[in-house]
Amino acid sequence: MNMLEIIRKKRDGLKLTEEELKYVVEGYVKGEIPDYQMSAFLMAVFFKHLDEDETYTLTEIMARSGDYLDLSGIPGKKVDKHSTGGVGDKTTLVVGPMVAALGLNFAKLSGRALGHSGGTIDKLESIPGFRTSLDREEFVEGVKKVGVVISGQTGNIAPADKKIYALRDVTATVDEISLIASSIMSKKLAVGSDAMVIDVKVGSGAFMKNIEDARKLANLLVKIGKMHGRRTVALLTDMDQPLGRMVGNALEVLEAVETLQGHGPEDFETLCVEIAAHMLVLGEVYSKLERARMEARKVLKDGRALEKFKQMVEYQGGNPRVVDDPENVLTFASNIVDVRAQDEGFVDHINAEKVGMAVVMLGGGRTRKDERIDHSVGVEILKKRGDKVKKGDVIAHIYASDFQKIQKARELVEEAYHITSTKPAKVPIIHGVVA
Ligand code: URA
Repeated sequence: MNMLEIIRKKRDGLKLTEEELKYVVEGYVKGEIPDYQMSAFLMAVFFKHLDEDETYTLTEIMARSGDYLDLSGIPGKKVDKHSTGGVGDKTTLVVGPMVAALGLNFAKLSGRALGHSGGTIDKLESIPGFRTSLDREEFVEGVKKVGVVISGQTGNIAPADKKIYALRDVTATVDEISLIASSIMSKKLAVGSDAMVIDVKVGSGAFMKNIEDARKLANLLVKIGKMHGRRTVALLTDMDQPLGRMVGNALEVLEAVETLQGHGPEDFETLCVEIAAHMLVLGEVYSKLERARMEARKVLKDGRALEKFKQMVEYQGGNPRVVDDPENVLTFASNIVDVRAQDEGFVDHINAEKVGMAVVMLGGGRTRKDERIDHSVGVEILKKRGDKVKKGDVIAHIYASDFQKIQKARELVEEAYHITSTKPAKVPIIHGVVA
């Protein structure tokens, strides 16, 4: 077997065997296959795809490439969630404490920002003192004690995905359905939760730009989960404008805390309730979705989810006052600049990818894996889809640390706004459910 033959076979649209996929993944992880051959292989997959069998096989090989995180020592149900990546997506920060407040265990390994989409670990690190690298014992102990822990990868979970994902990110091969499905599910299968909800984002700020592709990805994710005995539900959710109002690390923590205090933006709160409700049903806390939604809404309003968030922050070494006084505990960039509407009419959509790129430009995201980020910068969206604006109205704020970067960020946010003369139809935050 050799790599050249395998690349050629996929380039010509032929099906690969388990041995061939194993040869590729194991050879790449060991450093025996160079980046240039792996890049060619990924590009061949991008154009010729992997069929369902190949995708299942690749997922298993990647899941087996490292350690398994055994959660069986934690009593009760463990339900996981994952988002395919979006802009302003601070859902994990709210949903984790919500479901923990209702009796589920939320043992979550999250990632950092890469490209235009944010990462939960970076967001949490804007809380002073918050530790995101827990060892296995601390992680498991925390879930037993608090019910919710969010950590960066502990140990060596799916190292093949880590290495391949980093290469995909710089070779324009991220947005291929079979590669996304195997990447997500290899990590999920390596962590021993009982069930999971996957938030498949669709729209300008997502990897899946249209609903047909998003549905294909969702079906594949659910099938892979079920094949491995994990009850899996995928929600297709809107990413044709940033989620909520805040984009940027500390700003998103502020919005998460406000939501846990019971006054979050409507789209974001609805999404959190919906994801939490599906998790609660999968975890058999409630048998009916409607009841689960009702209870999920209640813990947002009566402070129980906020209290769980506070306990999690405390357990992970962060300043718990962030829940009482987020404005003073978190640090926000001191230069706040207006972005004004260039036209009169209605906001038709807001290109979320451009807003995400503006935050990266300001220093709030990464263009290289090892880059340090500025947690204090970001964009506050003041006008959302359907809102009426007059030319010159302030539609967004930019939070910047560096004056030099303001102009480019402002241009990106201005370009992101599409204003039309007719009011657009209301778009629901949930486009569909695949179960
Ligand atoms: N999220 C992942 O974990 N992997 C992908 O390939 C895309 C989104």
